[in-house]
Amino acid sequence: MKETLQKIKEETIKKIQSSGDLDNLNEVRVAVLGKKGELTSLLKSMKDVAPEDRPAFGQLVNQARTEIEAALENAKKTMEEKQLDMRLKSEVIDVTLPSKKLKAGHRHPNTIALEEVERIFTGMGYEVVEGPEVERDYYNFEALNIPANHPAKDEQDTFYINKDILLRTQTSGVQVRVMEKQKPPIRMIAPGRVFRADEVDATHSPSFHQIEGMVIDKDVTFADLKGTLAEFAKEMFGEDTKVKFRPHHFPFTEPSAEMDVSCFKCGGKGCRFCKGEGWIEILGCGMVHPKVLQGCNIDPEEYSGFAFGVGLERIALLKYEIDDMRLLYENDERFLEQF
Ligand code: DAH
Repeated sequence: MKETLQKIKEETIKKIQSSGDLDNLNEVRVAVLGKKGELTSLLKSMKDVAPEDRPAFGQLVNQARTEIEAALENAKKTMEEKQLDMRLKSEVIDVTLPSKKLKAGHRHPNTIALEEVERIFTGMGYEVVEGPEVERDYYNFEALNIPANHPAKDEQDTFYINKDILLRTQTSGVQVRVMEKQKPPIRMIAPGRVFRADEVDATHSPSFHQIEGMVIDKDVTFADLKGTLAEFAKEMFGEDTKVKFRPHHFPFTEPSAEMDVSCFKCGGKGCRFCKGEGWIEILGCGMVHPKVLQGCNIDPEEYSGFAFGVGLERIALLKYEIDDMRLLYENDERFLEQF
């Protein structure tokens, strides 16, 4: 019996050592210590041992059992450690690998140009206001001294919703909306989308943007208009920019003018950019017409003011030397990424 016990112990320890993985190790455990295991059966055959030898034999079996259990536990631990080691090695993360680039969008050239215009005018104390894109005929035309038979009101120029409501063709209506609500002094710019029934080409689009500007106060003169817009031109296009005013006609200003800036590409000598002129037209302006002031209950004897309207796309095209307006609306990333 003793020899059998010794043999079981030795063989089991060998099997444990060569078991290799946790599954095999478990098989070894069941084969020895399980219900039908070798050691269990040996204990069951205790009845064959002489009664006086039983305690000593029992002790031997228990000792063998403890040793086997310790060996099993040991082997299990080593194997688990080895397994963890292998997992750590195979699941290693290379933190030095370059990451996937996040594609962040950025501002559209129109937006960049608008923010620049807003920065310049808010710096001079102007407020930025907005008006509706779907506008009343009254604000878009009538209150601006544009008579019923004016060509700008033609259906070929204007998108009408009905007789009284239309998609605004200019931001000038915001002047009236502001003057109706606010008493002078007023200093405001009003950027926004406008609509005209134009075919798309390199310089036209049925939808584009304008920035309206207006100042109303006591003793405002054409000299204030010139000084303000000359300053704007310098900030927008460079310190050396000169301005030139040409007489023009707008129904809502008197006198009216168009303003040109000296070509910032050639400095005024004449180049391909300014078509040899040395000057580039950038906006319309004038002294607010007394009829427009009166319509808003502002006394033209007491107050005067100037107004101007700039095309936002025109500024963006000039500033970034883009030669086709359509590029601004196509949203081609290869184009937009350049700004
Ligand atoms: N609204 C005019 C246009 O669309 C631009 C303009 C000219 C606005 C003169 C003004 C102005 O405020 O005084 O052509």
